[in-house]
Amino acid sequence: MKILILGDAAAAAVRAAEFIAAQVTAKPASVLGLATGGTMEAVYEKLIALHRAGRASFAGAQSFNLDEYVGLSGDHPCSYRRYMAEKLFDQIDIVPDAAHLPMGEAADAEAEAARYEAAIVAAGDIDLQLLGLGLNGHIGFNEPTSSLSSITRLKTLERSTREANSRYFPEGEEPPRLAITMGIGTIMRAREVLLVATGAAKARAVAQVVEGPVSARWPGSVLQMHRHATLVLDRAAASELELFDYYLDVHPE
Ligand code: F6R
Repeated sequence: MKILILGDAAAAAVRAAEFIAAQVTAKPASVLGLATGGTMEAVYEKLIALHRAGRASFAGAQSFNLDEYVGLSGDHPCSYRRYMAEKLFDQIDIVPDAAHLPMGEAADAEAEAARYEAAIVAAGDIDLQLLGLGLNGHIGFNEPTSSLSSITRLKTLERSTREANSRYFPEGEEPPRLAITMGIGTIMRAREVLLVATGAAKARAVAQVVEGPVSARWPGSVLQMHRHATLVLDRAAASELELFDYYLDVHPE
């Protein structure tokens, strides 16, 4: 794993946005895997800035988001489709039909998960998969004990995930219990993976994922088995890494 430790969350977001811009510049027809959440908001802000500066075009790209809540329609204010439209898609030049998310409102969610997996395979799999990291080590919504070779399917969200995400829901409304998520096997087929984690709250999960055993207990640890995985961290998220100085020595940022 390539561990890049940046001074703060803003610098980490810039670094991640530059990484994505470099991907679409090198391969304009890239298949991008995208994520939502608080960490990505800053990354997408920087990416939009790069797009406006003429340094990143998505006109030839397509994207597949990691996940969507079951039961929320795409125009629900808390759906990930809405998040992506507001925070990225409406502000860049991606072709709307080329930006895919699972359909949370599908009558048969399991069939929708299978359709989504097949669509990713038909697109030739993901060139660059962007990932955040859950407090419990999840990637996508692959909660602890997810099969390390799982494909897109339904997952029940853990309490810590629902609590963390309840901040996006209006008072009195809870995040759904179920989500459709790309599997860990789906993510591992991506040709390149970029995980971004910032803030002290993520330090424990980062330490487990980078330096702990490969285990479904901390799903992100599977990235130790990926040949092209880069982690962009800020100092706070990296603070519990035993080999902190070594990573800085290898990649002084
Ligand atoms: C979102 C996703 C999740 C988040 C993770 C971190 O599409 O798949 O894995 O990336 O929960 O979320 P934040 O950045 O809000 O801490």
